[in-house]
Amino acid sequence: MELVEAIRRRRSVRKYKSDPIPEKTVRELLELAAWAPSGMNSQPWFFVVVEGKEYLKDLSDRSKAFLLERMGEMPALETYRALLSNPDLNIFYSAPVLVLIYGNTNAFTYVNDCSMAALNLMLSAWDRGIGSCWIGFARGFCGTPDFRDELKVPPEYELVAPVILGYPSDPPAKGVRKEIKVTFHQK
Ligand SMILES: Cc1cc2nc3c(=O)[nH]c(=O)nc-3n(C[C@H](O)[C@H](O)[C@H](O)COP(=O)(O)O)c2cc1C
Repeated sequence: MELVEAIRRRRSVRKYKSDPIPEKTVRELLELAAWAPSGMNSQPWFFVVVEGKEYLKDLSDRSKAFLLERMGEMPALETYRALLSNPDLNIFYSAPVLVLIYGNTNAFTYVNDCSMAALNLMLSAWDRGIGSCWIGFARGFCGTPDFRDELKVPPEYELVAPVILGYPSDPPAKGVRKEIKVTFHQK
């Protein structure tokens, strides 16, 4: 697939087949993610691959509970109260794979670096017929020290990007983009 086509056609996928992604493919996608640029070439990412239907469903429930408990501190989340209160919502959409991209906080640019690695991951996946979606709802709980300990992530790492992967069960949705705001200056 042409790069430009992948950029234009990639969509966040929210309906997946249950087919697993071979480990070799996941490794290849992570290797491509790591070709992202990073400040001072620090490459501060730490990839955690989580699989297992039951575990991911439980993680979704824990993530929803975490956000609902903290609604008071995060007013912007109020819009999502009804959604997050729905016991049937799996925030990971039953995708077979969750990649958590943690960044080393000692690297000044770790948030930027890990975000770019996430986009590389999503575009590389799309190129191979694999759908993805960044799951911001997972950031709170999967970023807690307790969860980091559960997955043996070193304490100097913070969660930047939770990204699900899987084979889409439906054709891609039509994308929507606003007109870009831009000004050119030639002085
Ligand atoms: C930082 C970030 C957080 C996001 N969090 C969620 C999420 O929790 N759940 C979800 O379904 N989509 C989430 N998305 C996906 C966006 O909704 C999606 O990228 C946007 O609607 C544009 O659609 P497209 O990716 O298909 O082009 C997130 C995207 C980003 C970049």
